[in-house]
Amino acid sequence: MPRELSLAEIFQLGYYWETKILLTAIKLDLFSALDSRSFSSSELANRLTLHDRSLSLLLNALVAMRVLAKHDGQFTNSSVAQQYLVKTNPEYVGNLLILHDSEWENWGKIEDTIRTGTSPVRQHVFETNPEMGANVLAVLDRIGRGSGVNLAKYLQLDEVEHLVDIGGGAGTNAIACCQEYPHLKATVFDLPQTLHVTERYIKDVGLEDRISLKPGDFNADSLGGPYDLALMSDILHYQDHQTNAALVGKVFTHLQGNGRLVIKDRFLDPGRTSPAWTTAFAVHIMVNTEHGDCFTTQEAMDWMVTAGFQSVTELETRAIVQGTKA
Ligand SMILES: C[S@@+](CC[C@H](N)C(=O)[O-])C[C@H]1O[C@@H](n2cnc3c(N)ncnc32)[C@H](O)[C@@H]1O
Repeated sequence: MPRELSLAEIFQLGYYWETKILLTAIKLDLFSALDSRSFSSSELANRLTLHDRSLSLLLNALVAMRVLAKHDGQFTNSSVAQQYLVKTNPEYVGNLLILHDSEWENWGKIEDTIRTGTSPVRQHVFETNPEMGANVLAVLDRIGRGSGVNLAKYLQLDEVEHLVDIGGGAGTNAIACCQEYPHLKATVFDLPQTLHVTERYIKDVGLEDRISLKPGDFNADSLGGPYDLALMSDILHYQDHQTNAALVGKVFTHLQGNGRLVIKDRFLDPGRTSPAWTTAFAVHIMVNTEHGDCFTTQEAMDWMVTAGFQSVTELETRAIVQGTKA
């Protein structure tokens, strides 16, 4: 049994102040303005046309949060802020946090959502704001590069000739698989607005001749094929149970006779109270998508079995499930 929370910890959980302080600093791009220099609050306020006193309070809090340092009234980036929150740095992750900041209004409506069951949004970010979607995919791509290689090795694709990455985003997994298996061809199926981004990433690594792009809505349009393997990575939590069951059934018809479907997602334990991050993510996805949800691996496996897949297994706990057509 985990130990009980103290009152201090309950209060701590209730303070979202630091979250909004950090997100606002990223939105104002304070870290890029500082870069490797040091400025007083008024110097920074002048540079960014901000209100000096208000900014100074924010900067002091960021120092207390260990995101910035302060010496003799001069503020500097901490090394982690310098590495990840300065826009010109290749490891910049601010765009993912800016997405969270843009969802602030939706979180403000969570009480209504819990009362009515209706989310404040009708479409997800990849549909409503392709530019922000592209920025988010850039961060996901950077984070996913390492795990993409591991996934490619793990899936053992020696016998696979053609895979389709459904909702493949920046092409991170398709690229990793093609780099790992030189004989492999891949198709990235995604919304047309997303594929503009994907095309750039594929060109950057020189895989245009092996990775093709297929634009469409995976719920409404033909997926092409038949393919030897279909991958669905981090897409099913944007949709409800029935839509996912229907999509898995549709994918079945786009596979070769001995084809495989691999679903990678953030799955919940059967009791749905862990992993902790995923339980909070489920609330996030409820508030910020029309019908999004998090599911258990058993639910994903049930979609596969109902669709006709065999040898359905949980390949990696709470992360990857797989089924074969024959
Ligand atoms: C969170 S990203 C996942 C990207 C990639 N699979 C990965 O694991 O990094 C979700 C992707 O699903 C795509 N997507 C969402 N709804 C879609 C739809 N109805 N049809 C096609 N693609 C969709 C988005 O454009 C986006 O690229």
